Amino acid sequence: MLVRMTDIMSKEKKWAVPALNVENMEMVQGVIEAAEALRAPVIIQTTPGALRHAPPAVFAGMVSALAKTASVPVALHLDHGDTLECVYAALEAGYTSVMYDGSKLPFEENVRTTKYAVSMAGGVPVEGEIGAVGGKEDDSEARPKLTDPEQAAEFARRTGVNALAVAIGTSHGVYTASPKLDAKRLSTIAGMVDVPLVLHGSSGLTDNQTRSCISRGMRKVNVATELRVAFTEAVRLSLAEHERTYDPKIYLRDGREAVKAVTDKWIRVCRAKGKA
Ligand code: G3H
Ligand code: ZN
Repeated sequence: MLVRMTDIMSKEKKWAVPALNVENMEMVQGVIEAAEALRAPVIIQTTPGALRHAPPAVFAGMVSALAKTASVPVALHLDHGDTLECVYAALEAGYTSVMYDGSKLPFEENVRTTKYAVSMAGGVPVEGEIGAVGGKEDDSEARPKLTDPEQAAEFARRTGVNALAVAIGTSHGVYTASPKLDAKRLSTIAGMVDVPLVLHGSSGLTDNQTRSCISRGMRKVNVATELRVAFTEAVRLSLAEHERTYDPKIYLRDGREAVKAVTDKWIRVCRAKGKA
């Protein structure tokens, strides 16, 4: 069933909902198949880059059609919406939650614009970001800036967001060295902010690193790079193996299986198995 992220995620729960980035139908299928097999709720999300590849109505159509026949809750979320236009387009298309990412803006401007996004969403849950996770997401690269706990509390209170992305040392993309996570900062933020916290840049973290973040208050765990890498590598291998095939279903099926395996891993790491 298609749900809102706030139906499946809360600060009180001691586990996190995996939020998986998709780029095409086979990735959506892979995520939902893994969620059904493990009886887990999941969030499926797309970046503005994915929405330049295919409009939000296409993703909304695919996800809602597949979610409606699924026996587990599935939410459809806009990830890192970088303009109000992009947020509006996702809402119009039927996304069940959105992120407005004003993390590159000065504090007051981020507050003002995020607050506007919350009012525009008219009750549809909104995720904001304070501090900056940094690294490579879509076509842009940003420098990380750790979240200040006082600012996080003020930002959540003044904007009315339903979930908050905070920077505690992770970054987007492929890690070249193991990231140093600021656990103490995360615990302080979790103690001061009333809404669920969101972990970005999860690809490449060890299971222990992710679980320690969850135990300290992260309630949504965003994964993109691992899924993109797994899908692409599986397709590459499949094409090499079936070099005479002209049937896209053959290699896309292998991509779908790879996404299913990565989703399976993240559902277990988040302890979301059996929570549907
Ligand atoms: O918003 C998406 C995530 O933060 C994904 O980060 O590509 O490092 O897994 P990742
Ligand atoms: Zn992110």
